[in-house]
Amino acid sequence: MSTLQVKVSDIASVTETVKQFTLVAANDEPLPPFSGGSHIVVAMNINGRTHRNAYSLMSSTGNTESYQIGVRKQDQSRGGSVYMHEQVKVGDVLEVTYPVNLFAINKMARKHVLVAGGIGITPFLSQISDLNRLGYDYELHYAYRSEEHAAFKDYIEDLCGDKATFYIESEGARIDMTELLSQKPLGTHVYICGPEPMVNALHLTADSLGWPSNHIHSEQFSAPPMGDPFSVSLSESGITLEVPGELSLLEALEAAGVDAPFLCRGGACGRCEIEVEACDGVLQHYDHYLSDAEKMAGNKVMTCVSRAKCNQLVLKL
Ligand code: FES
Repeated sequence: MSTLQVKVSDIASVTETVKQFTLVAANDEPLPPFSGGSHIVVAMNINGRTHRNAYSLMSSTGNTESYQIGVRKQDQSRGGSVYMHEQVKVGDVLEVTYPVNLFAINKMARKHVLVAGGIGITPFLSQISDLNRLGYDYELHYAYRSEEHAAFKDYIEDLCGDKATFYIESEGARIDMTELLSQKPLGTHVYICGPEPMVNALHLTADSLGWPSNHIHSEQFSAPPMGDPFSVSLSESGITLEVPGELSLLEALEAAGVDAPFLCRGGACGRCEIEVEACDGVLQHYDHYLSDAEKMAGNKVMTCVSRAKCNQLVLKL
């Protein structure tokens, strides 16, 4: 995948656990333009291994001077967000992918309802700059744990005015999905990014109210879970490699020099799908892309998040 070299020009603490990084092109040229909802993948060298995490671009979509990303420190993670918080300094040069958009607004929609939980607010910040510029009708519903976790609230108030509603969970406020999805004009599209239970609740409510599934858009990037080590053979290239417990299948392929495809690295887009030729155990599917029937069939695996509990996995690669 094509990459860019960017320099960290500013780091700001937004809340106790969220930092905002401003990135400019290392060669001082303008950065590639992007549309609202785009993300980039940041490469990090952690203990001699390359980790890659996807982060939504939050900056205004007309801005090619700099990109901004928001990173929440996740102590339970495999180290990417901790590395960003503790190791990355102003002036550092990072390798990032070109922006990719898997969460674009539907320009045919009559109204846009944006629903964010916690750090899931970040993709909406660039989407809102598109919606404001285009003069589209929208509303934002943003839920967070407590006032201390209200990342980017002042900025959102400036950006959205009375189109934004805030829900502070510690004060008992919750988004009522039924109310949210009721009495919206025909042709409304809903977009959600947040914790899995929140995303699932919205999908279930939309189903029960008869919303067309193609009017509900979610961005759900999962971190690759750790697991047992296993061995992989690639039938086309003849390579055999070990996937350690702390690396994803995709990371192990990359570490072995295999040019494996990816876009989101979070189990959402389907780009990393590889055909499974044999597995002497069970595939552990952690993606949001394959249907239940496809997961049961066991013919495909999303290498970015899924793995196998087996001795030997054979992939058509
Ligand atoms: S890279 Fe998107 S699902 Fe794996």
